[in-house]
Amino acid sequence: MKSFILETQRTILRPFKSKDADAVFTSYASDAEVSKFMTWPTHTNISQSIEFIESCKANWVTGEEQTWGIVLKESDICIGCISVRMTRPNAEIGYVMARNHWNKGIMTEVAKAALDWAISQEGIVRVWASCALENAGSQRVLEKIDMQQERILRKWLVQPNYSSEAQDCYVYSYIEA
Ligand SMILES: CC(C)(COP(=O)(O)OP(=O)(O)OC[C@H]1O[C@@H](n2cnc3c(N)ncnc32)[C@H](O)[C@@H]1OP(=O)(O)O)[C@@H](O)C(=O)NCCC(=O)NCCS
Repeated sequence: MKSFILETQRTILRPFKSKDADAVFTSYASDAEVSKFMTWPTHTNISQSIEFIESCKANWVTGEEQTWGIVLKESDICIGCISVRMTRPNAEIGYVMARNHWNKGIMTEVAKAALDWAISQEGIVRVWASCALENAGSQRVLEKIDMQQERILRKWLVQPNYSSEAQDCYVYSYIEA
């Protein structure tokens, strides 16, 4: 699939470049607080960030999953990423961002752009996301982009930095009216 670049008020969303590995590792993937509820272990070596970036590039080619690196317009430095995983007729979104950029509304504008992109893709009628019960910041982002909390999915995800046992999660969805 072709790589798409998305733009929000403050950010550019673009596919990862190999040079992003340093920023991915340093700014968020190695931060235990940022990765607390992620499904991947906190990176302890930059080789894990390199491998992640290469897997994202490969997934763009198959069209299975699109991951955009998030860069602020004033720089080309990656501060996070957002993914859309296509499982027609659904698409799942997931995101993460460096801690020093939290609570400035950035992910709300980024997630809205990814949601709009996903729902406009052929054959997609539902966009969804899951979120840890304790992850109030992410729940708020999903609410602010008009996703609706549907229910709790019991024992839905293993978040290895949090627990080795599968955790209950909220599921949120957006369906175009
Ligand atoms: C979740 C995350 C992406 C949010 O990004 P962000 O850019 O800070 O989000 P925004 O600033 O757009 O919105 C955050 C909202 O949550 C609120 N919030 C943040 N922490 C909160 C908390 N502990 N309790 C309640 N609300 C909280 C903020 O006040 C804000 O709401 P408001 O605009 O009504 O004031 C970011 O914290 C992150 O990367 N976390 C680690 C990765 C992660 O959890 N990803 C999601 C997995 S489902």
